[in-house]
Amino acid sequence: MEPPFLEVKNLSKKFGSVTAAQDVSFDVRKGEVLTLLGPSGCGKTTTLRMIAGFETPDRGEIRVGGKTIASARQRLFLPPEKREMGMVFQSYAVWPHMTVFENIAYPLKLRRVRGKEVRERVGDVMELVGLVGLEDRSAMLLSGGQQQRVALARALIYSPKILLLDEPLSNLDAMLREQMRLELKLLQRRLSITVIFVTHDQVEAMTLTDQLAVMKDGRIEQLGSVEEIYVRPRTRFVQEVIGRVIWFEGKILSEDHGGVLVGLSANEGTRIQCAQNGEGFKKGDPVVVSIRPEEVKIEMDHAAAGLNLVPCLVETAVFLGDHFECHLRYGEADFTISTSRAHPLSPGQKICLRLSPQSVHVWHKSELPVSNVKT
Ligand SMILES: Nc1ncnc2c1ncn2[C@@H]1O[C@H](COP(=O)(O)OP(=O)(O)OP(=O)(O)O)[C@@H](O)[C@H]1O
Ligand SMILES: [Mg+2]
Repeated sequence: MEPPFLEVKNLSKKFGSVTAAQDVSFDVRKGEVLTLLGPSGCGKTTTLRMIAGFETPDRGEIRVGGKTIASARQRLFLPPEKREMGMVFQSYAVWPHMTVFENIAYPLKLRRVRGKEVRERVGDVMELVGLVGLEDRSAMLLSGGQQQRVALARALIYSPKILLLDEPLSNLDAMLREQMRLELKLLQRRLSITVIFVTHDQVEAMTLTDQLAVMKDGRIEQLGSVEEIYVRPRTRFVQEVIGRVIWFEGKILSEDHGGVLVGLSANEGTRIQCAQNGEGFKKGDPVVVSIRPEEVKIEMDHAAAGLNLVPCLVETAVFLGDHFECHLRYGEADFTISTSRAHPLSPGQKICLRLSPQSVHVWHKSELPVSNVKT
């Protein structure tokens, strides 16, 4: 297997008493995209800035192509301009008093590149990001998407080895965001460039990434492919960061190696068998049982009784063209599921949800869910 191109080892950074990053480690291969995803303040920008060289880590190391570019132990910190990285900042500053051409050429000017080479390189990246024809436009007169492209072109002008993108799409409206998301993906593929991408938008994370690192309180909570993280989240926090979840409160009735049996709080007669290993749970523990909405099966017979059946009331059913979005209630829990047009539900209807033991996750109730992740 190809060796890692970017190696980040145990990066830690404190600002006064605030731990912004702690033991952040990951490897990225050449041409791969790694996304840092997590709520505001979890340390995404700090991690990116340490990689770019704008922040010195208190502990840890960074290597690119086997060469150490930062090491707290060796007191070695290569300055940003020697790291051959391009960065698009969270608030992508384009300089309003300059034209598009001048904005993009600026990093070359700083490095004393002159004349024909500047024109050629700027021309190349402008074509790459779709800005041809806007050379002489004042940056002040650009739309959000165009400013975004200028920032991207400026980061690419030096043919960086690694592209660092800090929420580059967050200032755009929904439509443009979707378009730029795809453009960015195509551009990344075309250039086969290694990218570290920061976002707190799960769709962006899922579109662009090879590896996903879910961060919380300065730490990487889980690292893996999008699918691994979606299907096998290690914590309740990770499960809620990506995709939708339905959850019910309950307590452990019994546990063994084959799984746990949970009685739901709203009605202890509703019992859910979960295939998840019962280790770490004991009888009486308060827990949360969760499942992805697409994993539940609808049983039209409300009176159906038995294990893993949850009786629900349909509160609303909204027709959205290709499917229905139905709001359901079970005791205190309310949640949304999609049903196909062929199987409409109507408000007031009583149904049962069947939760298969393999699809259900059980978490300790004390494990807190995500509170401030934007979707
Ligand atoms: N220069 C600084 N001085 C003091 N505290 C800082 C500094 N930079 C970041 N922090 C703190 O470190 C923590 C992590 O900040 P960081 O900017 O890395 O978060 P983030 O994940 O990028 O958040 P957001 O999604 O809001 O951009 C926060 O608590 C923040 O207030
Ligand atoms: Mg940030």
